[in-house]
Amino acid sequence: MRFLTAKRRGRAARPALLVMALLLMGALYAAVAPAARVSADTGSSQQVAEGKALFRVTCSSCHGMNGEGTEQGPSLVGVGAAAVDFQVSTGRMPMANPGAQAPRKHNTYTPSEIAALAAFVATLGPGPAIPLPEQYSGEGLSAEELAKGGELFRTNCSACHNFEGAGGALPNGKYAPSLNGVSGKHIWEALRTGPQQMPVFSSGVLVDDDVRAIVGYLETLHAQPSSGLTFGALGPVAEGLFAWIIGIGGLCLLAVWIAAKGARAR
Ligand code: HEC
Ligand code: HEC
Repeated sequence: MRFLTAKRRGRAARPALLVMALLLMGALYAAVAPAARVSADTGSSQQVAEGKALFRVTCSSCHGMNGEGTEQGPSLVGVGAAAVDFQVSTGRMPMANPGAQAPRKHNTYTPSEIAALAAFVATLGPGPAIPLPEQYSGEGLSAEELAKGGELFRTNCSACHNFEGAGGALPNGKYAPSLNGVSGKHIWEALRTGPQQMPVFSSGVLVDDDVRAIVGYLETLHAQPSSGLTFGALGPVAEGLFAWIIGIGGLCLLAVWIAAKGARAR
């Protein structure tokens, strides 16, 4: 009898232990993840050498051994580190197959690989550098600044990206993508480098504070609870945490339940 109760307590304790382990791992992930995202933009000579080697393997077939361009891809001289960071971290580059438009897709490069590629391309000619958070962060803006952001968005962007930033079709099978969930950093980089059909908005047209106003405006626009359950307001780290606990935690609990059921059936 004593043996039985001990066993039963053991069975109940197991899922609780698992949940605790998952919480711990989630917390660890949250603590470590932001540090990994810091990108070095200084371009040490070793980083440039690494970037050059990687570039020659994965990018040169279209962009040439020294980024001079080929029939398959444009010259990258003077596009700047920001263009590389944007294109590679949104998964557009390396382009899989030359089509109407390189789509946003899952990026398979590590932050340090991207930083190395960017540092190498930056040595080819002067261009926009990878921005710092104070250049693109939409946080802590006043209501007036947000309203100005909305105005700037409607005059400069909505023709292609739609009034709510939901995106829209363009001629010849091209399209302006939805801006929902696009990071402030990628918005800044897209403006300064003008990917594909998008015009370049230089700092002469929109100063960094204007970009921040637009970023802040888009964040408030997309934070409105119109699209069901979103973790947008909590940021990407929280999202990862939720995915861990709800996704993997759920699976583990299911496994424990199945095992318990199986044991009982026996
Ligand atoms: C299959 C060919 C192909 C490969 C491989 C490729 N690219 Fe590209 N890349 C292109 C094409 C084509 C464009 C132009 C897209 C457009 O503007 O429509 C482009 C555009 C770019 C741009 C934007 C240039 C600008 O003017 O802003 C950058 C930056 C870039 N590529 C970087 C890279 C890097 C880095 C790699 C390797 C990781 C890579 N590409 C691999 C074909 C390729
Ligand atoms: C002439 C049409 C046009 C205008 C005007 C325009 N864009 Fe774009 N935008 C595009 C196209 C086309 C793309 C897709 C480029 C690609 O896939 O490489 C794009 C891409 C982007 C992206 C990248 C999104 C992603 O999925 O990574 C951002 C951010 C962006 N635009 C923001 C803006 C903002 C902010 C403005 C106004 C200041 C603006 N755009 C004005 C056509 C436009």
